[in-house]
Amino acid sequence: MSIRLGDVAPNFTAETTEGAITFHDWKQGAWAVFFSHPADFTPVCTTELGRTAALQSEFAKRNVKTIAVSVDPVESHRGWAGDIGDVGGTDLNFPIIADESRAVSEAYDMIHPGEGDTSTVRSVFIIDPNNKVRLTLTYPKSVGRNFNEILRVIDALQVTDSAPVSTPVDWKPGDRVIVSPAMSTDDARARFGEVEEVKPYLRWTPQPKA
Ligand code: BEZ
Repeated sequence: MSIRLGDVAPNFTAETTEGAITFHDWKQGAWAVFFSHPADFTPVCTTELGRTAALQSEFAKRNVKTIAVSVDPVESHRGWAGDIGDVGGTDLNFPIIADESRAVSEAYDMIHPGEGDTSTVRSVFIIDPNNKVRLTLTYPKSVGRNFNEILRVIDALQVTDSAPVSTPVDWKPGDRVIVSPAMSTDDARARFGEVEEVKPYLRWTPQPKA
């Protein structure tokens, strides 16, 4: 079954490079980026995990923990870790799940046999501190993901959770945001100060302070 936005992220217990974890306990109180890759010792995956390791301080600033999964065994993940460090420039600093039984990959619908075989495709789940799924992405095996975009979406989710606003096309942190259609312009001015009304339904305001 596929997972929809707003669903509770399925909980599981699994072996990882950092020992056995129970997902909801492991991420308790934090956001999580949970992502699958097709296989260890493959080039695109090595660049992706290397980048995730190098971005760990950016994730930590946002209270985000990262965790990867593939169907390879834990000894394989541990053997690959050195290459991830060499390629990304930072030692592997987050866990990789060994999902040999495919129980986790199946719970998250990460195996798409039309993509070649029964390894996982490049899925991403952004999960909030209440364990709700807030974003899903699915990339083919041949295309590496953009982890700057993953950070950007987390920033957007955290801003839109903090105030009745939405983020427009191509939004970047610090750009103006859109006042929620549910809020009157008078109420928006009382709450945010500056509000520019372009259309009755499109009102801009500076990004609220965290
Ligand atoms: C890669 O990581 O390079 C890769 C893995 C599986 C299929 C295609 C590419």
